[in-house]
Amino acid sequence: MAQHRVVVTRRIPEAGLVPLGDPLQVVVLGEDPPPREKLLAAVRGASGILSTVTERIDAEVLDAAGERLKVVANMAVGYDNVDVAAATARGVVVTNTPGVLDETTADTAFMLLMAAARRLGEAERLVRSGRWGGWGPEQLTGPDVWGKTLGIVGLGRIGRAVARRALGFGMRILYTSRSRKEDAERELGARRVGLEELLRGSDFVSLHVPLTPQTHHLIGERELSLMKPTAVLVNTARGSVVDEAALADALAERRIFAAGLDVYEREPQIHPKLLELENAVLAPHIGSASIETRNRMAALAAENLLAVLSGRRPPSPVNPEVLDRLPLD
Ligand code: NAP
Ligand code: GLV
Repeated sequence: MAQHRVVVTRRIPEAGLVPLGDPLQVVVLGEDPPPREKLLAAVRGASGILSTVTERIDAEVLDAAGERLKVVANMAVGYDNVDVAAATARGVVVTNTPGVLDETTADTAFMLLMAAARRLGEAERLVRSGRWGGWGPEQLTGPDVWGKTLGIVGLGRIGRAVARRALGFGMRILYTSRSRKEDAERELGARRVGLEELLRGSDFVSLHVPLTPQTHHLIGERELSLMKPTAVLVNTARGSVVDEAALADALAERRIFAAGLDVYEREPQIHPKLLELENAVLAPHIGSASIETRNRMAALAAENLLAVLSGRRPPSPVNPEVLDRLPLD
């Protein structure tokens, strides 16, 4: 193991660094996302890369690392920042961190749902401005959440955790997914419908699909036009699942009531129109940002990386076909 050099692209919680430190030679690139040139230079000759969502790990990075590279361990469940096909073609295992962040990310989705419905961002700005004149009969009213219909786009791990929260609010649940989830239908009373029916019938729509070529701009101008004018859209999935410009127009023209967003098409840039809108609640990609969950994500990413470098099956590979070609225990 001692001969292996590992590059950690950002400073991550100790829970991920400590297990790597002893057996490996570890290079941590710093607090902030590394400039591309620094990343390309640092990975040269590395056996493992522990990356985060802010780094694009594409063929150029894989080639810069060279033939010693065995594993890219992404500290995230989403891995659209990694060119998995390019990694697979080079025999590099890619891993992610599923399961350890579901509840925390579902909390964030529900927090944004509540904040957008009840206009929390606007209310806080009013208080801080010094212009608040006291309680008002029609001041800052928004739609109730309890008893309404929630449409979940992508009833996977996080989508289900959101649905469980919604049950506590007496909500009805509609969902879309590539495959039917009969267990979730039984446990959550969720009903599977097509995307159009979900958009027309939901008071709240929460997105939980991965970003893939099939889900890019899944919610565009036409889909927004199907939503109720009183509806709220929540996106904690990936920015590019939504056409951000179309969403900004729909919000500005009050064709939907509000949106709660954690993710954006060109992070950290945000569509300038969204920044001006009172009915957009904007969070800076903090879906999984609890202390405990970030520790768990870092630890799982490290475990994945160490497993591959010590010839064991990693807990969460995303291209398991590569493992079949490696001499693993
Ligand atoms: P998951 O368990 O794999 O669930 C994804 C769901 O999306 C599955 O139910 C899947 O259906 C469905 N799906 C995939 N492609 C679809 C399509 N083309 N049309 C309709 N449904 C589709 O993933 P997860 O762990 O819940 O995570 C979901 C995503 O959340 C991640 O990929 C990541 O991008 C995002 N995320 C963001 C944050 C944040 O900080 N904001 C934190 C964590 C995760 P099947 O089951 O039928 O395949
Ligand atoms: C965060 O965005 C993740 O995919 O874990």
